[in-house]
Amino acid sequence: MKALVLAGGRGTRLRPITHTRAKQLVPVANKPVLDFGLESIAAAGIKEVGIIVSDPREMLQPDHRTGEMITVLVNSQAEIRAAVGDGSRFGLKVTYIEQEAPLGLAHAVKISEEFMAGDSFVMYLGDNLIKDGITHFVREFEAEKPDAQILLAQVARPWEFGVAELQGERVVRLEEKPKQPKSDLALVGVYLFTSSIFDAVRAIKPSARGELEITDAIQHMITTGRNVRSHVIRGWWKDTGRVEDLLEANRIVLADLERRIEGTVDSATVIEGAVEIGPGTVVERSHLRGPLIIGSDARISDAYVGPFTALADGVKLERCEVEHSIVLDRSEIRDIDSRIESSLIGRDVVVTASDVRPRAHRLMLGDSSRVELS
Ligand code: G1P
Repeated sequence: MKALVLAGGRGTRLRPITHTRAKQLVPVANKPVLDFGLESIAAAGIKEVGIIVSDPREMLQPDHRTGEMITVLVNSQAEIRAAVGDGSRFGLKVTYIEQEAPLGLAHAVKISEEFMAGDSFVMYLGDNLIKDGITHFVREFEAEKPDAQILLAQVARPWEFGVAELQGERVVRLEEKPKQPKSDLALVGVYLFTSSIFDAVRAIKPSARGELEITDAIQHMITTGRNVRSHVIRGWWKDTGRVEDLLEANRIVLADLERRIEGTVDSATVIEGAVEIGPGTVVERSHLRGPLIIGSDARISDAYVGPFTALADGVKLERCEVEHSIVLDRSEIRDIDSRIESSLIGRDVVVTASDVRPRAHRLMLGDSSRVELS
């Protein structure tokens, strides 16, 4: 059994964060989403992993300090390679497989045929997070020996996913992002395949969006009489493609946090609940109400940090209140009167009050940013 992890793609729904960072590396509770997937693959006893990465591309965007338009090289491939390396940190042996363009999940399968060399494999979409891991599904697949096994989960917005139509336990039809979904059972981004998937990916044609859809390939297996099993998962699962989902994932992961304080906390600070503070971080005259996590070398002064917040390394908060939010590396928030909540703030961002007249909101935001002011 091997694994195929998808870490290419565009991440359009998390712009502007994903203008400069691969969506699979956006952190949940200060850990890249991709790490959760690789850990659960290792926990299932799988050793060999192929990671699909895509080529660098250039984008024009304003420099965050000067406002000048600059060309940014979005090199998610290099970023993923730097973050995962040879996989030994996870107890895995990683091989990188280059996909020349985001041509679809079934295309990614197609180009991994040589790497799989006849073995069965689990395909894991790198932006998916399954809290209870995948060990159970892998064991079930090995015991039942179907040609493929898909995981399904009930969702509120089925039109945003691949949707399955079942008759009893049997999958009768799969549709990718249907306008009128036949059920509320979405395809979770974890699939188990035998090598018969390769015949299917060769047989299908690109969809209307120009991609080879994995949904069509599995549908082809069903049509040609292959045994495709389904398993409806009861535990918690998220495709972290949208900000709301990322914040929810953060909330779920932080709910299990245990208190660990490595930084320096002064006596004027109040700490309630599960709070993790990394080394080199200084907290003074503040109120921390967990569960929340603060990375290393951060500085929190005269601030309130509320539940379900993840502050990455080097973040600085001064005279402000932040709750239920993710703030990435080295960003600074200062002198903001109203509480910031349900927010995703990128790296090296500065949010501050200004005394300059006329009193006004002065913004410099990257493409596809979203701001709600009150
Ligand atoms: C992909 C699949 C879809 C599946 C989803 C799960 O969609 O095409 O069938 O339900 O992942 O995360 P994408 O997120 O690439 O739009």
